[in-house]
Amino acid sequence: MHDQLISDIISDVRERMSGDSSHDWWHVWRVWQMAKRIAVEEKADLFVVELGALMHDIADWKFHGGDESVGPRVAGEILAAHGVDPDVIARVQDIVATISYKGAGVATPMNTREGECVQDADRLDATGAIGIARCFAYGGHKGRNIYEPDDKPILHTDKSAYKNSTGPSVNHFYEKLLLLKDRMNTGTAKKMAEARHAFMEAYLAEFYEEWEGKR
Ligand code: NI
Repeated sequence: MHDQLISDIISDVRERMSGDSSHDWWHVWRVWQMAKRIAVEEKADLFVVELGALMHDIADWKFHGGDESVGPRVAGEILAAHGVDPDVIARVQDIVATISYKGAGVATPMNTREGECVQDADRLDATGAIGIARCFAYGGHKGRNIYEPDDKPILHTDKSAYKNSTGPSVNHFYEKLLLLKDRMNTGTAKKMAEARHAFMEAYLAEFYEEWEGKR
């Protein structure tokens, strides 16, 4: 019943995604696919989860001068234009407003099971082989170095420090990617995060070996 509506909304989302290749339409597509899979396992409301996934990065603060209010507003406008129920719109806006990672020491609880599914799907996309590719793509977009041996990772305890960090891309593994395994909400995502986490650890071990000229 919602298939046509979802595909109409997808057309709008595809047109509006303006981030770099780490936050493009394909990131949204992967999160949408993964969120559906998690939602079925977790028996969450599939429609809200799908819309939350499709809208979650519609106006990411990282690409809008740090403004966190743009995402929920734009999501609301798009969904209203497609005639989505105000009640559903409010639930989706809540997901968009609360989903972001804001630093190692900052808790980011979701208010609903549906939000937990979308947040887990988004976080899974920041881990594993895809997570590594996105990390370096975003770092390149921001003009960051790959690695600086003397520049140590910082476990940010407030979100503005996290948002303004300028460290090399490898530090981001310690400041976010490797921490995500223990911050998954659902049992389904926790299981999936294990293999992706192990892959990143193996990648880093190889990276340092090569950096030191040992391999
Ligand atoms: Ni995202």
